Amino acid sequence: MIKIINIVGARPNFMKIAPIMRAFNSSGKIDPILVHTGQHYDEKMSDLFFRQLNIPEPDINLEIGSSSHAVQTANIMKAFEPILLEHKPDAVLVVGDVNSTIACGIVAVKLGIKLIHVEAGLRSFDRTMPEEINRILTDCISDMLFCTEQSGVDNLIKEGISKEKIFLVGNVMIDTLLSNKAKADESDILDKLDLNGKDFAALTLHRPSNVDDPVVFGGIADALEVIQKDMPVIFPIHPRTLRNLQSFNFESRFKQMPNLKLIEPLGYLDFLKITSSARIVLTDSGGIQEETTILKVPCLTLRENTERPVTVQSGSNKIVGTNPENIIQAYREVMNSNTRDTQIPPLWDGKAAERIAETIIEKINLD
Ligand code: UD1
Repeated sequence: MIKIINIVGARPNFMKIAPIMRAFNSSGKIDPILVHTGQHYDEKMSDLFFRQLNIPEPDINLEIGSSSHAVQTANIMKAFEPILLEHKPDAVLVVGDVNSTIACGIVAVKLGIKLIHVEAGLRSFDRTMPEEINRILTDCISDMLFCTEQSGVDNLIKEGISKEKIFLVGNVMIDTLLSNKAKADESDILDKLDLNGKDFAALTLHRPSNVDDPVVFGGIADALEVIQKDMPVIFPIHPRTLRNLQSFNFESRFKQMPNLKLIEPLGYLDFLKITSSARIVLTDSGGIQEETTILKVPCLTLRENTERPVTVQSGSNKIVGTNPENIIQAYREVMNSNTRDTQIPPLWDGKAAERIAETIIEKINLD
């Protein structure tokens, strides 16, 4: 058996690890151990996802919690090293680009343990994003790099990573979406929010560059003021965004928008029901750009760039930035168009995790 320690830490990791754990467990050749760093810990940011996505209970929880980047990363490293020394796995698998990804990656390679990175090679080319730093550093120390789209492969080759280490396998986040879509369709969240049969917009915001700066956050609020006059805007709010909204004294401003519905973070199934039923999605998330591509729902990305260009080329994603006039203009263009022509990116077919398991079994046995 190939023993692999798999790392999750923050919300977007959970949808990625679910199909990987399933594929490993059913391979009969990989013995997976699941470690949760505890970077996200709230019921609605973590536990709910484990239950809904049938992710096995973590074998180990490092219970790190929130703190500054340096403290959080260092605490994960300190807590993870003894786990590796005790379990001596053949490899460590990390997903995505959060602080848990790079922290556990560094610990593994320094102990001479193979590092596998799922969702490798994505680049926004914006080094002010903490995730971009995490991605670059994780990729340059990884032994096997699994990519979701061709741009990831191209970026890695340009950075000098040897072709033998790179595998284009598709998107594990889409594996999860496809296997849960029917269940999500049964969610009663539209009834609960009185949205059945109505046009509405869905909004998520959590990037530091958008919600840590009152000018940028205020500009987005200007655009929302206009959009919510047309249709309800559903805003499941991330804890960091809520905290900033309160500290910037934006609460009264948001209360004056009767159609902007601030709600607690949703579980995976309710959120998938919301995004798949929305007339339009506005977001600064990476994963939601991918999900709306598959769902063929128009997406306005409230950032200056994307590390997922395939969602723009073949999907319904538009990178609109945070200037309120630009957001409103892009919104109007979507509302005036009825085409939902999107192509599904290659290999986004629900089988990425199986390909990852097969590749690992083949390559790790060869060594
Ligand atoms: C992290 C990831 C980001 C990912 C996002 C998804 C990094 C650098 N960033 O950002 O890439 O898109 O997760 O949500 O790893 N908090 C809670 N409860 C929780 C978790 C967080 O209240 O369960 C609050 C805390 O106040 C914390 C803040 O949210 O300080 C930020 O959490 P943190 O994990 O530092 O980063 P995210 O903004 O969530």
